[in-house]
Amino acid sequence: MVKIGDIELPDFPLLLAPMEDVSDPPFRALCKEQGADVVYTEFISSEGLIRDAAKSVMKLDIYEKERPVGIQIFGANMESMLKTIDIVEKSKPDIIDINFGCPVKKVVSKGAGAGILKDICLMEQLTAEMVKRTNLPVTVKTRLGWDHNSIKIVEVAERLQDVGCAAISIHGRTRAQMYKGDADWKPIAEVKNNPRMHIPVFGNGDVNSPERAAEMRDSYGLDGAMIGRASIGNPWFFKQVKHFFETGEHLAPISMPERVDAARRHLKMAIDWKGETLGVFETRRHYTNYFRGIPHFKEYRMKMVTSDDSKDVFAAFDEVLEKFADHQFTS
Ligand SMILES: Cc1cc2nc3c(=O)[nH]c(=O)nc-3n(C[C@H](O)[C@H](O)[C@H](O)COP(=O)(O)O)c2cc1C
Repeated sequence: MVKIGDIELPDFPLLLAPMEDVSDPPFRALCKEQGADVVYTEFISSEGLIRDAAKSVMKLDIYEKERPVGIQIFGANMESMLKTIDIVEKSKPDIIDINFGCPVKKVVSKGAGAGILKDICLMEQLTAEMVKRTNLPVTVKTRLGWDHNSIKIVEVAERLQDVGCAAISIHGRTRAQMYKGDADWKPIAEVKNNPRMHIPVFGNGDVNSPERAAEMRDSYGLDGAMIGRASIGNPWFFKQVKHFFETGEHLAPISMPERVDAARRHLKMAIDWKGETLGVFETRRHYTNYFRGIPHFKEYRMKMVTSDDSKDVFAAFDEVLEKFADHQFTS
């Protein structure tokens, strides 16, 4: 069994990665239904939260049904990060996660996200103080290092563990790599194989098939997999991996009725959460992924992504179900 603080998880849990503009409450709820063992919010700016910026505050919303859920925050200023803990706690998450991995220039240039990989002492101090400030488990998500010449992840992970970090998720790329090249899981396995490590070590980066998840578990010996891009448009990825673990076989491709049902519920949850206008608008980006690879689909996709009234979008789903009910998906 794997534990994050007192949260008990099954062997080799699957975690939904924090993803900006993707890991919102409706998407997280769908992933949870389909087997994700822990879900994380997209990253939330500590400075934004302190200013009470509406966009940041909205990201704190969580549904009961998605627990256990981690709220991910980023920042590099000690005072702001500590104040942020107090704000975040009011949303009653199960976990607080610190983003020490975001490679984007506007974040890194302020010393936050992966920028902190240039100052391991600050990374350690921030983690230590945040752990002291809350009774919730504090986890960290980070990268292998700043660049190829500065990979010290074994030491970094040990130091974070020693100041009370409850679990660490490591994306097998450096900041310099951004998203290029293949994720390297070997340094993550070195972290796990360090005999001093006792907190869970989760691997992240390029887990894009059930076989790759099995490889991370069996060949690299990690404690669980954090999954990002493979779940976009495919919240079923979690159950596909679990089915493969249990049977050694692939789950049958997700059928059209299941896809339409997910799209419907996604839209419904988004409207309940953000209201009609924003709900309709922000769910649009998911439809292409749910309905990928269907011939002669453009007319229906256009209806889904251009209608401003949810009634028209729901009607488009009904039409799709009627017309393409028997379409055979390949995955
Ligand atoms: C659209 C998108 C948004 C992301 N936003 C975040 C974020 O808010 N916080 C974070 O720690 N990582 C973020 N990431 C990185 C992912 O969590 C993950 O580390 C990365 O995609 C590699 O995993 P994957 O190969 O399974 O996608 C984002 C990635 C994508 C594709």
